[in-house]
Amino acid sequence: MTALRKTTVALTPKAAPFAIRAERASDVVARNALLDACFGENRHMRTCQRLRDGRAPAEGLALSAVARGKLVGTVRLWHVSAGGVPALMLGPLAVDAESRKFGLGAALMEQALMVAKLRGHGAVILLGDAPYYARFGFSGDKTAALSLPGPFERDRLLGLELRDGALDGAWGMIAATGQAARQSRPPLATKAAKLTPCAA
Ligand SMILES: CC(C)(COP(=O)(O)OP(=O)(O)OC[C@H]1O[C@@H](n2cnc3c(N)ncnc32)[C@H](O)[C@@H]1OP(=O)(O)O)[C@@H](O)C(=O)NCCC(=O)NCCS
Repeated sequence: MTALRKTTVALTPKAAPFAIRAERASDVVARNALLDACFGENRHMRTCQRLRDGRAPAEGLALSAVARGKLVGTVRLWHVSAGGVPALMLGPLAVDAESRKFGLGAALMEQALMVAKLRGHGAVILLGDAPYYARFGFSGDKTAALSLPGPFERDRLLGLELRDGALDGAWGMIAATGQAARQSRPPLATKAAKLTPCAA
């Protein structure tokens, strides 16, 4: 098991130093408020949410960024089967609007990918903007034959192998495989049939 150490990062003089640490139960209200602000309150209707409904994130892979005692960033990763290949689905990644462009998003990504690799995961998949995620090595090279359980934009389905060849042969539907969450909101897919193509 890999313990996540608290990592403090000194930034530009304009930005408050922040720490990245494992998410705590006390972060949940602030995390949800941040996600509502970033993605809108209908974010639960997004296609990727179908892979998270009722599931717990992968162990050690729910991270919070905190600056001056306030939650300013979040990223979580989820167990999936990528057409039969075990992988992690990353998302949502979000940084508070006032804390952006100081490297916080990159720090969350790098920490998450490092922990995922240390824990032995072979690959990470996400739905997001290639111009942002390419800097971390994500591309559509190994995700062209994969699908999501709802509408999505093909050029936004990206993958990264943490172990060479981990996504070889990945073909078909991406499906949730994570453990059930201890407490979770009721699945919202039943509330409305309309799903939204999404980032994260
Ligand atoms: C995407 C996000 C997490 C980046 O956080 P951040 O802390 O600003 O990230 P960094 O400081 O590491 O990187 C900032 C750089 O990424 C660029 N960037 C941010 N979002 C981008 C995007 N969607 N596409 C391309 N580049 C992007 C910024 O313009 C900036 O570029 P610069 O370094 O040349 O100025 C943040 O903008 C955010 O929370 N956005 C709203 C939620 C969201 O869209 N999440 C990602 C889903 S695809």
